[in-house]
Amino acid sequence: MPAATQVIKTQVGIVGGGPAGLMLSHLLSRAGIASIVIEKRDHETIRHTHRAGILEAGSVKMLTESGVDGRVLTEGHRHDGIDLRFNGTSHRLDFQDLVGESVWLYAQNEVFVDLAAARKRDGGDVRFSVTDTEVLDLETDVPKMRFTDPAGQRFEVQADFIVGADGSQGMCKRAIPAEKRSDHFIAYPFAWFGILVEAPPSAPELIYANSEHGFALISQRNDHVQRMYFQCDPGEDAAAWSDEAIWAELQRRVDGPDGFTLKRGPIFEKMVLPFRSYVCEPLRHGNMFLAGDAGHTVPPTGAKGLNLALADVRVLFEALGQFYATGSPELLDGYSDTALERVWKAQNFSFWMTTMLHSREDQTSFERKRILGELAGVASSRYGQQYLAEAYTGWPHS
Ligand code: PHB
Repeated sequence: MPAATQVIKTQVGIVGGGPAGLMLSHLLSRAGIASIVIEKRDHETIRHTHRAGILEAGSVKMLTESGVDGRVLTEGHRHDGIDLRFNGTSHRLDFQDLVGESVWLYAQNEVFVDLAAARKRDGGDVRFSVTDTEVLDLETDVPKMRFTDPAGQRFEVQADFIVGADGSQGMCKRAIPAEKRSDHFIAYPFAWFGILVEAPPSAPELIYANSEHGFALISQRNDHVQRMYFQCDPGEDAAAWSDEAIWAELQRRVDGPDGFTLKRGPIFEKMVLPFRSYVCEPLRHGNMFLAGDAGHTVPPTGAKGLNLALADVRVLFEALGQFYATGSPELLDGYSDTALERVWKAQNFSFWMTTMLHSREDQTSFERKRILGELAGVASSRYGQQYLAEAYTGWPHS
């Protein structure tokens, strides 16, 4: 270790200052457990990184009941259902009637803003724009993370535990030797073309549309800004699409005998989102634990990514809390299995929604008709609707 390296001791060292890392740090501080969060991006970059916008009721409760902020309730919008649209016809799923739950439309970057503000308010140690991050000695009693701050100062954080909350491209899971982890992975032959548009909402709730031209999702942000997506080729160049071409593509995917027409406006953001499903097993190596996208990735179709990350954090927080309160490692030892149970349910749900709603270029008439049969099976059955509604609004937390 170079002489100039500054050593900091803490209880939990957290790699990643996205919603998972910040929420964990926030909960730990409320329980009197010290942590340091390091993040390679700067605050503004994360604030402008657009991700999904649907929060399960359990995620909303975590934000409000732990004192992060009530902005999700005042700025966010409660949604009591969605429309499943196929064959040009919408079928409303009423979540309140089906499972007595709702979701909240509140963008992930707003969750980040609220969490970062809460950490700042409470004197949390969150360091943005760090470089050369390393995690080491993970199988010892003093696991460490090292980083360089923007001023060039090198630090070593010595902790009881390291938490890898550094997202799907993060380095923490790669610090687990290949022979000690299983990587479960599938790629999809499509991606999402996402836009942000200045326009009023086209419908009261989100529309998940299957069509012979491919999938489209008509989502929202607020009264003036909307979020929409359509299935595209993974290699698509977002910049090559004119606004006119985007509107034509979106509209033909929601066209139907009811004459439903999208409300158009200036498109101010265009991007192509990758699609994959991934799980790292186990979510632990020595005294390092993985949480959120660092350990698993879902395609965005069911909006499960952030919700799953917060569910991991809840389980991990309880386990760390037990350890520091009683010295018992029991819940920590069970963390990976407990978190993965929900992860695999969500993996299945996200995969199912994806395959049921998207189409493949090479699909046969049998596959096309089978998917329509599946959609009709779900939409016409209370049991089918209930499975979707329960998974979408989020399984109960134990
Ligand atoms: C979004 O609004 O960005 C969004 C909503 C629902 C999804 C995915 C993304 O399933």
